[in-house]
Amino acid sequence: MLKKLIPVLALAAAITGPAAAQNVTYTKDIAPIMKENCSECHGASAPIFKEFKKQEEKFTKEKIGPRMDSYPELITYIGWPETGAIMRRLDDGKASPGGKPGNMYRYLGGDDQERQKNLAVFKAWVGEGGWNLNRWAARGDVPAITKDQLDKLKLAY
Ligand code: HEC
Repeated sequence: MLKKLIPVLALAAAITGPAAAQNVTYTKDIAPIMKENCSECHGASAPIFKEFKKQEEKFTKEKIGPRMDSYPELITYIGWPETGAIMRRLDDGKASPGGKPGNMYRYLGGDDQERQKNLAVFKAWVGEGGWNLNRWAARGDVPAITKDQLDKLKLAY
C-alpha cells in the first residue's frame, strides 16, 4: 500500500511544490527571481514608471522597462495604479481569454519548466484568487478589479 502511495505522494509534492507553501515572500522568493530574470531591464538604472511613460517608445526600443527592483515599486504593478500589470505580462496564457501568454512570460526562465516553476511562485505570492488580469478601470474586454479580488492579494514582504 505504502509503496503504491509513494509515487502519488511524490507527484503531489512536485505539483504543489514549494510554491504552494503559504510562506512565499518577496524577500525570500520573488526578489531573487526578479534579480535573475528581470533586473537587466527593470533594475536600479531603469526609470520610474512616470519617467518611463514620458519616453515610452524610446525606452522600449532600448529594451529598458520601468523600474521594479524593490517591494514598494513592484506592488504598484499588481494592486495600484498599474493594476494587474504583473499578471497580464507574466501569465502563461491560462488566465487570459485569448490563451496568449503575456509578453514578459518568456523572461521568467530559460526553459518552460523553469518558467512554469517561477510562475507558480509568483501566483502563490500574489495569492490564491488574486491572480487575475483585471485593471483598475475596465478597458475593452478587461473588466475593472473588484474589492473582493483586491482582498485576495497577499504579497507578503
Ligand atoms: C530584455 C528586457 C526585459 C526583460 C528581461 C524583462 N522586461 Fe519587462 N518590460 C521590458 C520593456 C522594454 C517593457 C515596456 C514595453 C512593454 O510594455 O512591453 C516592459 C514592460 C513590463 C511590464 C509592464 C509595465 C507596465 O505597467 O507598463 C511588466 C509588468 C514587466 N515588464 C515585467 C517584467 C518581469 C516580471 C520580468 C522578469 C520575469 C521582465 N519584465 C523582464 C523589458 C524587459
